[in-house]
Amino acid sequence: MNAEPTRSIGLIISLTYLVAAVLFIVGLKLLSSPRTARRGNAIGALGMLLAIGATLLDQQIISFRWILLGLVIGSALGVWLAQAVKMTAMPQMVALLNGFGGAASAIVAAAEYYLLLQHPEQRATDVVVSIMATVLIGAVTLTGSLIAFAKLQELMPGRAITFPMQKALNFALLAAAVGLSAWLVVDFDRSTMFVALLALSLVLGVLLVIPIGGADMPVVISLLNSYSGMAGAAAGFVLHNNVLIISGALVGASGIILTQIMCRAMNRSLTNVLFGAFGATSATVAGDGVDRPVRTVRPEDAAVMLGYARSVVFVPGYGLAVAQAQHSVKELASLLEKRGVDVKYAIHPVAGRMPGHMNVLLAEADVPYDKLYEMDDINREFERTDVALVIGANDVTNPAARTDPKSPLYGMPILNVDHAKSVIVIKRSMNPGFAGIDNELYYNEKTAMLFGDAKKMLVAVVGEVSKS
Ligand code: TAP
Repeated sequence: MNAEPTRSIGLIISLTYLVAAVLFIVGLKLLSSPRTARRGNAIGALGMLLAIGATLLDQQIISFRWILLGLVIGSALGVWLAQAVKMTAMPQMVALLNGFGGAASAIVAAAEYYLLLQHPEQRATDVVVSIMATVLIGAVTLTGSLIAFAKLQELMPGRAITFPMQKALNFALLAAAVGLSAWLVVDFDRSTMFVALLALSLVLGVLLVIPIGGADMPVVISLLNSYSGMAGAAAGFVLHNNVLIISGALVGASGIILTQIMCRAMNRSLTNVLFGAFGATSATVAGDGVDRPVRTVRPEDAAVMLGYARSVVFVPGYGLAVAQAQHSVKELASLLEKRGVDVKYAIHPVAGRMPGHMNVLLAEADVPYDKLYEMDDINREFERTDVALVIGANDVTNPAARTDPKSPLYGMPILNVDHAKSVIVIKRSMNPGFAGIDNELYYNEKTAMLFGDAKKMLVAVVGEVSKS
């Protein structure tokens, strides 16, 4: 092909990449509010479609056969996963996707390494440095994410796995991997060392994630998401592909911001999450061994309390997701509103198992966004609330986070449910939540326990309210 059309195709690709990058940024911005999140997702996907389309115009593509095969298999798997995976399994799914992202970047970098082994004249320092960075970060992301997946899927113990000198070993391995990368930048042809770098990085990914306990796993997933973005950006430098650099940097930056937000909501530092081995001795503080009485109610009693209240705040948690009770919650809210009850929903930033977990669930049941209140806003309201209805939420309502300096939750901002005039808690048993600790709220004299599956109990309460 002569130079002129090649140059115009190059220009079209660059311009399309620019449009795609703008769409990614606009999409991300829209994702920051539940009201606009769907549109943000669609705009981001459009950006990706444009970026892929433009990349396929690249004149360096020799054959489309493998690309098409990958596209068909990948798309089919994507559609199947999107439909088959349950909301409660979303964290594992994200972990797996991060791992695939890291693997893809590492494979691209490894392929480029072997290509440059044959073509020494094409080696440039920036590309060589990027190859090593991509392999290191991509491989750590792959195995780290696979361990996170295995823990969340309960294929291995979810608790923190620790052993003596673990941190020292991890630092030594990290130093060795960085050292090997630097060596390869200077002495590129040592392919056995390249294989050693890859192997070391894969091992490092495993060792960095096993000492992290189950409750901290969502933070780690968000961090690995950031790593997969960084690996993608580094792969962009390897391939001189601007849209890959931009999208990788966006994923890297948003992942790290999300990690920070989650750490703050749990009152933990990132260092504490990564090296604190929280949950190594899980459920150590679940109860003090003394059976304390709790007040229980039946659905009909709960219906009376709710039906005659002026204001009710629903507090959803992980149990709501497990029971898939979002539609029943909405039904109860509509019934109460028809009776003139003021209904609001209190959303804790780490309720559930993923950021935005509750928002997504409630949006699925068409709960209006203006009924959802963030923690700081709703905490001011609890004192004026007649009934706080806690549905499958536990840790995010535990007053020990405010009052007990010895509690592992101490300092975590919580929903001040115990400030409401009365509290009803729907859960199946006195079992603890994710943090594995007892909840003082259940022994409060204002609290009534409605034991049972969240959906079944809500359906029963709806039945009783509609009768009265
Ligand atoms: P949890 O404290 O985990 O409590 C959930 C409660 O739901 C459990 O006590 C369980 O009690 C109940 N439950 C389970 N299945 C149920 C069902 N079918 N029907 C009724 N109840 C059911 O949940 P939370 O209050 O939402 O707190 C979230 C936890 O995850 C926090 O510890 C948080 O730090 C952690 N975490 C979250 C995130 C994000 S981003 N969301 C990130 C990291 C960590 P029973 O077994 O007795 O029913």
